[in-house]
Amino acid sequence: MVSYKDLGLVNTREMFAKAVKGGYAIPAFNFNNMEQLQAIIQAAAETKSPVILQVSKGARNYANQTLLRYMAQGAVEYAKELGWENPQICLHLDHGDSFELCKSCVDFGFSSVMIDASSKPYEENIELSRRVAEYAHKYDVTVEAELGVLAGVEDEVSAEESHYTRPEEVIDFSKRTGCDSLAISVGTSHGAYKFRPEQCTRDPKTGRLVPPPLAFDVLHEIEKKLPGFPIVLHGSSSVPQEYVDIINANGGHLPDAVGIPEEQLREASRSAVCKINIDSDSRLAMTAAIRKTLNDKPGEFDPRKYLGPARDEMKKLYIHKIVDVLGSDGKA
Ligand code: G3H
Ligand code: 13P
Ligand code: ZN
Repeated sequence: MVSYKDLGLVNTREMFAKAVKGGYAIPAFNFNNMEQLQAIIQAAAETKSPVILQVSKGARNYANQTLLRYMAQGAVEYAKELGWENPQICLHLDHGDSFELCKSCVDFGFSSVMIDASSKPYEENIELSRRVAEYAHKYDVTVEAELGVLAGVEDEVSAEESHYTRPEEVIDFSKRTGCDSLAISVGTSHGAYKFRPEQCTRDPKTGRLVPPPLAFDVLHEIEKKLPGFPIVLHGSSSVPQEYVDIINANGGHLPDAVGIPEEQLREASRSAVCKINIDSDSRLAMTAAIRKTLNDKPGEFDPRKYLGPARDEMKKLYIHKIVDVLGSDGKA
């Protein structure tokens, strides 16, 4: 048994309470590799923003859960070295799909876990989420549960259409599960193709796709039912078109990639939404920088020469999200 407290990590309780009160959101960035982690920590340290490092099932398969946990432990020391005296870094399991997996993360130094049983029937979702919360709370590990189904791919769970969270269920669900935060479905979805072109309109000036707005009415109803309760938005990448253009101009092919407009995420951050999950935007920043470097310099074969610029681009992106979208700068 390893306690996250001995690793210098923190759970989400205090950061969420402050974020809900202060009208901002904590960034939850996924990481799979060293360059992403360096960029996240550099951005958080420079802006003094609390940050959640997320480990998905895909990340565990790719990089190994043990290695990722030690990297997060190293990240705390790295943050201090960068001059961040009291780093507020949470290590979070993203989309945990079983009690055993959540338990293994609690036992191994994670400070927060998500149990995503959102694709199961309501009562099964409650029972599994409740079991995880009961176990995790013994070790002061915080728990995110999910109600409602996002469109697109949720790790391996695919849902053709999203099912918005039903506000009439949230009080019962949060009470009976004992979860510390609730991921909801209000129109976001995972990946770089959040809406089909036929769901969007086109900006006549730019020809870009304009997605339908998030269901703020549903979000506000949920807030009314659960005043002050921490709400989480998954699938919140905005799919910056400048990265899509760079990728497409340098041999890539991402037709009609579209995300959530940042003004809407800014608006959500001011509400009870206190955790915003971003993964795809970092992938796009990294891929754009790598493609461009390799295209501009065909003789380059030292990975540091293309991963370095990719790391810089991700850091720029993370700082932008923290400062201009979520408003979490200066809060740690
Ligand atoms: O929620 C999904 C995240 O973007 C992680 O995706 O399983 O491909 O790492 P992944
Ligand atoms: P994006 O694919 O929009 O970045 O969402 C990431 C996410 O929700 C991770 O859990
Ligand atoms: Zn997610």
